[in-house]
Amino acid sequence: MDRGTALVEAVASRGGPRLSAVEWHESIGSTSDRLKQLARAGAPAWTAVLAESQTGGRGREGRAWHSPPGGLYLSVLLRPRVEPVPLIPLAAGVAVVEAAKGFGVACELKWPNDVLVSGRKLAGILGEASSGSAGIEWVVLGLGVNLALEAKSLPAELRDGVTSLRAEAKSDATPAAVAAALLVQLGVWYDALREAPARVVAAWRERAIPWWNALVDVRSGQAVLRGRLVAVDDDGALVIELEGGERRHLVSGEVSRVRQAAAF
Ligand code: BTN
Repeated sequence: MDRGTALVEAVASRGGPRLSAVEWHESIGSTSDRLKQLARAGAPAWTAVLAESQTGGRGREGRAWHSPPGGLYLSVLLRPRVEPVPLIPLAAGVAVVEAAKGFGVACELKWPNDVLVSGRKLAGILGEASSGSAGIEWVVLGLGVNLALEAKSLPAELRDGVTSLRAEAKSDATPAAVAAALLVQLGVWYDALREAPARVVAAWRERAIPWWNALVDVRSGQAVLRGRLVAVDDDGALVIELEGGERRHLVSGEVSRVRQAAAF
């Protein structure tokens, strides 16, 4: 049995979503780019593309996502009907935390959807949507998870900020086992999004790094906003309070904590 078929069966046997088709590559440019091609050609929801390395992996905010062997790179096609699209990456964050828990690793979420262990990144999530005249046509959800990444295979500036399932759990979780766990949890939290979006946001908040009321910088491109982190609202936006009390609801950006004792 090929790896794709084995994954379809493993996910189904655990009550997970019915995968329509699976491509599993040793190496590829980007699983999300490949899945977008399939989406444009009409592939059904729950088509998945996986790889064990990428040569052109993409991250949020236009960054590259270094994807050497030792990671799992997974993209899933969704065709939302009633599910609130901005909440899909948050649901995916909760799903990754729950999947990692199954391998003995306790993670936290940093808005919008970085998955961290003790401040080090275990996984990243990239949601990309396309809309037509009838609204959202598809969402390609891309997950990059560090299974057994060797720090030395990453650029020097990233090494300290990254961890892996192997480092955290001493577990030799296989790509197939992790992929199945991720897809099962994605099914659970995507269903929850349809039935009770507020429950998903509440679940996200429960798993978040407790930076509430801390001073943070939110970078988006060249722009940086500094403020106190107030909340993640029910639409998944980050709410910060600027000096002077004005509140902003942000839908994208990179959050970092301001370490110095200074206020604004
Ligand atoms: C982030 O910047 O934190 C998000 C990283 C998302 C990377 C994944 S790996 C699978 C999929 N294919 C890509 O090219 N990117 C996403």
